[in-house]
Amino acid sequence: MRMVDIIQKKRDGKLLAKEEIEFVVNGYKNDSIPDYQMSSFLMSVFFKGMTKEEVSWLTDAMVHSGETVDLSGIKGTKVDKHSTGGVGDKISLIVGPLVASVGVPVAKMSGRGLGHTGGTIDKLEAVEGFSVELTGQQFIDNVNKHGISIIGQSGDLVPADKKIYALRDVTATVDSIPLIASSIMSKKIAMGADAIVLDVKTGSGAFMKTLDRAKDLASTMVEIGSHLNRNTIAVITDMNQPLGYEVGNANEMKEVVEVLKGNGSEDLVEISMAIATQMSILGGIYQTEEEAREGLNRAIESGAALEKFKEFIQTQNGDGSQIEDVSKLPQAEYHVEAKAAQSGYISDIDAEDIGVAALLLGAGRQTKEDKIDYSAGVTLKKKAGDKVEEGEVIAILHTNKEDTKQAMDTLHGAFSYAEQQPEKRPYVYEIIS
Ligand code: URA
Repeated sequence: MRMVDIIQKKRDGKLLAKEEIEFVVNGYKNDSIPDYQMSSFLMSVFFKGMTKEEVSWLTDAMVHSGETVDLSGIKGTKVDKHSTGGVGDKISLIVGPLVASVGVPVAKMSGRGLGHTGGTIDKLEAVEGFSVELTGQQFIDNVNKHGISIIGQSGDLVPADKKIYALRDVTATVDSIPLIASSIMSKKIAMGADAIVLDVKTGSGAFMKTLDRAKDLASTMVEIGSHLNRNTIAVITDMNQPLGYEVGNANEMKEVVEVLKGNGSEDLVEISMAIATQMSILGGIYQTEEEAREGLNRAIESGAALEKFKEFIQTQNGDGSQIEDVSKLPQAEYHVEAKAAQSGYISDIDAEDIGVAALLLGAGRQTKEDKIDYSAGVTLKKKAGDKVEEGEVIAILHTNKEDTKQAMDTLHGAFSYAEQQPEKRPYVYEIIS
């Protein structure tokens, strides 16, 4: 087989064979295919796309490019959840303990934030002592005993994706549905999931800016799941503004506790419930959506979900008293108010800008080596659709930095105003299965 023939075939829009796709993935991983040929191949995929079969073969080849995790030591159906990423996205931290409290085993590997998006692991590490470095056996034992464990990305999982992603990043080929879908699904499958619930975000703060693109990505991933025998459901949700009211690390943990106490904001509650419902049905705990919602609501009302969250934090060496009393979580020295530039209705809050403002305050990393300030972040006081008077507080910036000018300017740039109240957008657009 010759790489040049495979590139040409894809360039001409012809269907590739399973063996040809395996040749490309393995060859690139083993350095026998150089960057320039792989770049050309990726660009051909970008323009010509892939059939559902080709993208499933690509995913399978990526899964087998490295180690896979064996979760067979965990009893029950392991349902993983993945979000395509957003600002203020703390849904994993809500649904993890929530579904674990009704009996779905949660064995999750999560990432750190980079740039303007936060990472689940960084949020957890805002709690004193919390550790994500467990051995494989500790991870499995924790899930069997406590129903939930979350670890950081490690090992040699899908090395082909790491290499291909880095190349896509510098060859303008990130934004391709077959490449995104295979990248995400290969990691979920390598992680040993039996079933997968995907939170596919759409809107200004998301990878997929339009609903049509989000639907296309969602259905591609659901098809990959069905080809590779993993029951997969995608929930398409809104990311036209940050999720909830908190963006940062310690302050997002506080908001998670509020939701688990039953006091969450409308968007967080609705999206978390939609995802937890699908996870608990795929996990075989409930038969219908109605039954699932009832059971999950009971877990919140009884305090079982919050108790599970605390148990999980403590099992991984975190200080549970910071969950009981969130004022013990890291607190910033300065809390600076941002005030509305004009009267009217808030029509939009650009999620990416809010993420960048939080990053500038210290909540994120600009390079992998940067240290996070867990206490830094943004608390929104208003959301899209709210009425404001000029000078009213719209957000609070939490930071240990004295100079907040750039963050403040970025935050103000995120807010758009209108004279009329804008139409309310749905939080959950569609469920694709
Ligand atoms: N997230 C991934 O893991 N891969 C992509 O290609 C895009 C988003």
